[in-house]
Amino acid sequence: MASEQPDALLQIEDLHVSMGDREILRGVDLTILEGETHVLLGPNGGGKSTLLNTIVGMPGYRITQGRILFKGIDLDDMEIDERTRMGIGIAFQRPPAVRGVKLRRVIDVAAQGQLDDAAIGQLDEELSLGHMLERDVNMGFSGGEAKRSEMAQLLAQMPDLALFDEPESGVDLDNIAVVGAAMNALLKGEGRISERTRAGLIITHTGHILEFVNADVAHVLYNGRLACKGNPLDLIEEISSHGYDACVECKLCQTFS
Ligand SMILES: Nc1ncnc2c1ncn2[C@@H]1O[C@H](COP(=O)(O)OP(=O)(O)OP(=O)(O)O)[C@@H](O)[C@H]1O
Ligand SMILES: [Mg+2]
Repeated sequence: MASEQPDALLQIEDLHVSMGDREILRGVDLTILEGETHVLLGPNGGGKSTLLNTIVGMPGYRITQGRILFKGIDLDDMEIDERTRMGIGIAFQRPPAVRGVKLRRVIDVAAQGQLDDAAIGQLDEELSLGHMLERDVNMGFSGGEAKRSEMAQLLAQMPDLALFDEPESGVDLDNIAVVGAAMNALLKGEGRISERTRAGLIITHTGHILEFVNADVAHVLYNGRLACKGNPLDLIEEISSHGYDACVECKLCQTFS
């Protein structure tokens, strides 16, 4: 029996985003279907974090053209907390520190008070949170601790669309597996697309995290647009061998106009 085509969870159309007087995104088109995991590649300063921060509604990112639809609803003018309640979650590249707010409290808020002590204990075990739970969130956390703290918040929230901004950066080799397992638990990364309910968008430079998380397709953000898409591991290999300039000119890749 033929399975139904999943619905589009996220639709980005001709998105232009400026910070101050600089246009950073210049016409991004991207559709993520329910259950899909996408990867975003691209050179430093290309606008990858800008794209994720704009989707989640961080202040300061000005949409000058185009739109973002989530579950068919235009996110324009929606505040970050509203988008979070609709089912968008993010693990930031450099998560902000918040003095006076304990990580345990943030996890509780992310879960909308739905996690009991046993569930928090399980998160603690999965992500080795330990003393971090009773510390001010991200205050003095090491790079790897901050990433595990971000994962804990996402696992507590269980968003329908999880945005991961360089989840493996600064994480030691042992803990990449821990972070990857948390991402898999969230995305149910095993199995066919149709079996999964949650979707993901992962920024990575090295692709190490993809040893632990299945991804369906990768895009290259270049000159403010998605210049190329293809198999994640193939694209990363292509970029490692030939660089971004050569990659986006590759005639073998499926290119957007
Ligand atoms: N507040 C700001 N004011 C001006 N420019 C900004 C601001 N925030 C970001 N930018 C610029 O926007 C561009 C895109 O930044 P962004 O963080 O999205 O890149 P990135 O692709 O995530 O890079 P990286 O791989 O280094 O994380 C950069 O040139 C950056 O300096
Ligand atoms: Mg970035």
